[in-house]
Amino acid sequence: MKIGVLKETVAGESRVASTPDVVKKLTAKGFQVMLESGAGDAAHFTDAEYKSVGATVVDRQTALGCDIVVKVRKIDQADIDQLSDSTILISLIEICEDDGTLQALFDRQIRMIALERIPRISRAQSMDVLSSQSNIAGYRAVIEAAAHYGRFLPLMMTSAGSAKPARVVVLGVGVAGLQAIATARRMGADVYAYDIRPETKEQIESLGAKAIELDIGESGSGEGGYAKELSDEAKAKQQQMLADELAKAHVIITTALIPCRPAPTLVTEEVVERMREGSVLVDLAAATGGNCPLTEADQVVTKHGVTLIGHTNYPAMMPTDSSNFYATNVLNLLNIMVEKGENGLALKDLDEDEITQAALVRPE
Ligand SMILES: NC(=O)c1ccc[n+]([C@@H]2O[C@H](COP(=O)([O-])OP(=O)(O)OC[C@H]3O[C@@H](n4cnc5c(N)ncnc54)[C@H](O)[C@@H]3O)[C@@H](O)[C@H]2O)c1
Repeated sequence: MKIGVLKETVAGESRVASTPDVVKKLTAKGFQVMLESGAGDAAHFTDAEYKSVGATVVDRQTALGCDIVVKVRKIDQADIDQLSDSTILISLIEICEDDGTLQALFDRQIRMIALERIPRISRAQSMDVLSSQSNIAGYRAVIEAAAHYGRFLPLMMTSAGSAKPARVVVLGVGVAGLQAIATARRMGADVYAYDIRPETKEQIESLGAKAIELDIGESGSGEGGYAKELSDEAKAKQQQMLADELAKAHVIITTALIPCRPAPTLVTEEVVERMREGSVLVDLAAATGGNCPLTEADQVVTKHGVTLIGHTNYPAMMPTDSSNFYATNVLNLLNIMVEKGENGLALKDLDEDEITQAALVRPE
């Protein structure tokens, strides 16, 4: 069974869907890996490294013709015609921002596994690219904040004077938020955190941070562990109640998302005006409108004396580790998709396992 690994084409995307460590495991299992030449360059994996663990380096068209094609970002429409009829495509397919790619794939009857759709159950944790990549985003958000903040994060006592620890507030305590809390704590900051799902309080405290508790009159817990959108009244109450806590922060990291909906506004312009000159806000929701209306996607700007960081692809800023995690998630998924048959590896019925059944995209 042949697996094609494609080079990513989206501007700024430096990740690759399989890495030499994982290719070694795939070939040991019996897969033939066909890597598009240069696919790993931006993540610092050379063609020679892939070859040394058994991959064959090929052109894009050959990689597209494989039984299974793996990618990070959704496939380019121009590549869809090159896929073979029986191909299974595995990638993120960015369902919420579909631009016709889905229909083009349905028209060709290509089977595709949308990695966003891997269900959030314990057994699927090792295949969950949203979690592995969010973890990286949470870490990198703190590193970016520290790099733009003109002071220390930890308490510093030196012969030249001392500095107080920074007050860091993390808004949204999912996977990225938890990692941001842990990273900021490791760097010695005083960390406060808030989420609309009350069950996060214990997780915040277990990382040595303080939970900000607000009574906004409704719960934000939605289906599958995700948040649901609040009523307009609760949104206004939340903004107002958070304002004093946020105005005191030196660094704010916002990670609040609602699946397929615009990000909620948590940090208003009025709050930014009240923040101290030189403070930093990292808005991990910048791609979906931002948790602060002043954030600009893919830009670092200063407004009212506050640096607003709006990068939209943190994992691509750490492409070696993010690709390794991504590739391992895909390997774990492939392990449940195939079995050893008489003539080598054979594909299982994708409807038989609840994980592949949920992630397989079908026309509505
Ligand atoms: N396999 C698994 O079991 C698995 C894997 C990953 C995540 N999860 C769980 O799924 C849940 C969602 O995690 P995620 O990282 O995907 O979340 P996410 O990226 O969708 O959202 C980030 C956080 O923002 C919060 N949020 C949304 N609106 C908000 C608002 N108005 N104010 C404050 N906070 C707001 C959400 O509650 C969430 O915690 C978590 O409970 C996580 O532990 C489970």
